[in-house]
Amino acid sequence: MTVARVKMLAGNWKMHKLNSEVEAFFAAFVQSLGLSPEQRLAGRLDLLFAVPATILAQAAKTCKPLGISVAAQNVHWEASGAYTGEISLPMLREVGVTATLIGHSERRQYFAETDATVAKKTKACLQDGVLPLVCVGETLAERDGGLVESVISRQMQSILAAVGSGAGLSDLVVAYEPVWAIGTGRTATAAQAQSVHALIRSLVTDAFGASAASALRIVYGGSANPSNIKELLAEKDIDGALVGGASLKPEEFAKMARAALAV
Ligand code: PGA
Repeated sequence: MTVARVKMLAGNWKMHKLNSEVEAFFAAFVQSLGLSPEQRLAGRLDLLFAVPATILAQAAKTCKPLGISVAAQNVHWEASGAYTGEISLPMLREVGVTATLIGHSERRQYFAETDATVAKKTKACLQDGVLPLVCVGETLAERDGGLVESVISRQMQSILAAVGSGAGLSDLVVAYEPVWAIGTGRTATAAQAQSVHALIRSLVTDAFGASAASALRIVYGGSANPSNIKELLAEKDIDGALVGGASLKPEEFAKMARAALAV
């Protein structure tokens, strides 16, 4: 059985923007989008923004009436404890946050995130009812060394072990983000991205069967922008995009959302 997957367009603001910019951003975004919240929601497109911790509460308050979800960029797996500098799932839920990025390559590269911590965080999110957007992707050296399949398989194995069974796969999103395409202006071609998305879905099929795998949304990230989004979303295993740079500009991101609605 094939499950219809609702496309997702997720912005990743990284370490950008202040509370004082939030209202104006979303006013401009909604105006550029030119649709009512009902039209956007209608099961056609999930819109989500992963924003810095200091503006989560303000963004969640502004976005709720617009039918837009707000995500954290990282989370700890424990509910509370002596973990200076960390934020927990109950803290996110308290301010209206319903999702979080996990294992973004910048966290793997600069902040010692590992497959093991990614797995713990994914498991905690699934138990807590917060949507995990878990990132995987190879570096340029790994791609050039012919290691795409082994790197993605290794990263996916720890995520799938955390999921435990195929039942929760519609409550998980995997983001394929080739590290060499992030913030570089060098997008993977639609065919390159599709082939890794198909690999990810086949790994999930091996673990839990085709029906469970067809419920999983796999989004692409890495220099996605208004000019390439249509081509990427036309691929059969690409269920949306995780967008850094282009999500900082309301008009650009609205163009991408309109393109996603038209696919
Ligand atoms: P980019 O970032 O769109 O600026 O390449 C994507 C990401 O890191 O999520």
